[in-house]
Amino acid sequence: MSSKFFVTTPIYYVNDAPHIGHAYTTILADVLARFHRIAGDEVFFLTGLDEHGQKVKQAAEKRNLTPQAHCDDLAPRFLSLWQKLDIRFDDFIRTTQERHKKIVQLALQKVYDKGDIYVDEYEGWYSIAEERFITDTEHSSGQFRDVKKLKEKNYFFKMSKYQQRLIDYIESNPVFIRPEHRKNEMLGFLRQPLGDLCISRPKARMDWGIEIPFDKDYVTYVWFDALVNYISVPGYGSDGVRFKKWWPANVHLIGKDILTTHSIYWTTMLFSLELPLPKTIFAHGWWLMGQTKMSKSLGNVVNPLDLVEQYGVDAVRYYLMREMVLGLDANFTPDSFIKSYNSDLANDFGNLLNRVSGLIAKNHGGKIPDPGVLTTVEEEIKSQANALVGKVTQLISAYQVQEAVVSIMELVRILNKYMETQAPWKLAKIDFKAAERVLYTAAEGLRIVSIMLSPVMPNKTAAVLDILGSVGRSPVWGGLKPATVLKTHEPLFPRIEVK
Ligand code: MSP
Repeated sequence: MSSKFFVTTPIYYVNDAPHIGHAYTTILADVLARFHRIAGDEVFFLTGLDEHGQKVKQAAEKRNLTPQAHCDDLAPRFLSLWQKLDIRFDDFIRTTQERHKKIVQLALQKVYDKGDIYVDEYEGWYSIAEERFITDTEHSSGQFRDVKKLKEKNYFFKMSKYQQRLIDYIESNPVFIRPEHRKNEMLGFLRQPLGDLCISRPKARMDWGIEIPFDKDYVTYVWFDALVNYISVPGYGSDGVRFKKWWPANVHLIGKDILTTHSIYWTTMLFSLELPLPKTIFAHGWWLMGQTKMSKSLGNVVNPLDLVEQYGVDAVRYYLMREMVLGLDANFTPDSFIKSYNSDLANDFGNLLNRVSGLIAKNHGGKIPDPGVLTTVEEEIKSQANALVGKVTQLISAYQVQEAVVSIMELVRILNKYMETQAPWKLAKIDFKAAERVLYTAAEGLRIVSIMLSPVMPNKTAAVLDILGSVGRSPVWGGLKPATVLKTHEPLFPRIEVK
């Protein structure tokens, strides 16, 4: 049964050019969106940019630009990267857009009218890097850079009021925060009394933000602004029908470093707005270089564009999906990239196509042969292929993307092994009908595998389906029509030779 699937990525700070951390979540969201689309679901995939706040303002100052000019300059770089990475989003929000700003103000007013926002004078340690007041314990941990003592009047959101309700919610909704260890981490955090959240910045100190509707001397804190994108875009406060259709989101995909803001700030904001919570907040791990996080300040970030230019977009998408078990950290190394490319893509997937199309061209007039009557060996392959669809659908709905890719590649290996043991090049000389049956089976298996891999590698799989002359996109056994003429082609994934 088809249903709706609303997936979001974090909206990225425009303080720098996009890197692999940004690219990863966006590709992941795209892959999930594509899986759901081929399953017949109606999909809404939202991504965008977080353009307000101190970090963006400082980045603009460094370049001698106004914050808006800086954002307008960087936004196209994100968009063109998404295009190069084949990201098919449905909407792209920039928080400086009017459609978003007025909804943030509406939300603030609503929470204020409800009595959930109060004004107070506060003195504490303020971290510019984190854009928030940090606690004394956090300060003495020494983990925060750019910290200064600050005393000022600000507006506070009564987050503490919703603490127990949030704990109860997390405990009674096992798939709300995933993976499990992150859920436990949040429950652990919630064992301490929850403070209230400072949600304003005096314009005199920081004016790059959305003005607070009830005090024109203040702008709102960047997180109260950014998180609202998840509801401003689907129509909260502007299009009730659309909003009802899409909200709550099926999943907010985020990195583990922004779990607290999502599972605590955002959820208590939604409680105050009397809106349902997203079904799942999924926190993935980090891409590491050696043992350290890739980060701009460490200067070890990998530019996804370099990889794409060198190895092609599909190979990069494949590597990122195949290598990271969702929820855990993963290590990026050029070596593991080449290894995975050569073994999975060149040797297994590319080779299966080469053998099938090469033999069909050589011995069968370049046309898909007739399968004839299947033997138990082919019946077994057929049932494995048909079962794969259900298995992958189930893994994808549980956000086990790596496991889904692995099980699809398992069928590729089974097909290669089948070709080796059946040796249709030999059969062509002694039992032509058997050779036809084997090549049909391998080609049809390859067709199904290509459809299943298409969310991960949209270009190469489309090329395979085109070579095979496959018209439909149904992953049910028997789609290939005998006598279809195969197209000639170059190797799909030429091996990377390591010097
Ligand atoms: N603007 C906020 C998000 C607001 S969402 C309402 C923000 N932006 S960010 O640009 O700093 O980072 C966005 C995402 O990139 C985070 O989910 C973060 O985990 C991810 N990554 C940054 N570096 C990363 C890696 N090295 N590996 C994987 N993802 C990492 O935070």
